[in-house]
Amino acid sequence: MRLFIAILLSDDMKDSLLDAQNRLYDRGVRGRFTAEENMHLTLAFIGEVPDAEPALDALAAVSFSPFELGLEGMGRFGDLWWAGMRESAPLDAVVRRIRRVLAESGIPFDKKRFRAHITLIRKASGDLPGLFPSPASMTVDTISLMRSDRGRNGMIYTELGTVEADAE
Ligand code: 2AM
Repeated sequence: MRLFIAILLSDDMKDSLLDAQNRLYDRGVRGRFTAEENMHLTLAFIGEVPDAEPALDALAAVSFSPFELGLEGMGRFGDLWWAGMRESAPLDAVVRRIRRVLAESGIPFDKKRFRAHITLIRKASGDLPGLFPSPASMTVDTISLMRSDRGRNGMIYTELGTVEADAE
């Protein structure tokens, strides 16, 4: 199974992203738009593993305090267009902690430098217009282990387990 660790987004944040997608579509942008229920912020990509248990145990060992996450701007990796996040030291810290626990547990993961992004469109056509999602924000108090499966009409993401923030 294919696993990754992610923050699932609040309805507010997803609404703002959906609205940005709609405005892009209205401007003539075409591509594979991420379905609203699939929008997420990946913190670590584990990839193919035979069993989710070790990753669930590793995630349970991550501790963090609730923190704020805010949308800021848009960018692209080639034809993959994404919404960016406001700079956040707590976000960077929790990503480092997750990656350290995965490494200590012998769980493989993609070691590319973390660049916080929420994919909005794959195979996007044209140039990125100067159009941004409205600046929604949310409090992060849950981090999720997700399984990714290829469905008939796109990816299907299933939450396998979570770790909750420490009580304040
Ligand atoms: P992406 O949206 O930029 O493709 C599930 O595939 C999630 O893991 C997506 O958010 C995807 O980011 C992310 N991811 C990170 N590294 C990946 C990799 N090497 N292969 C596939 N997905 C990856």
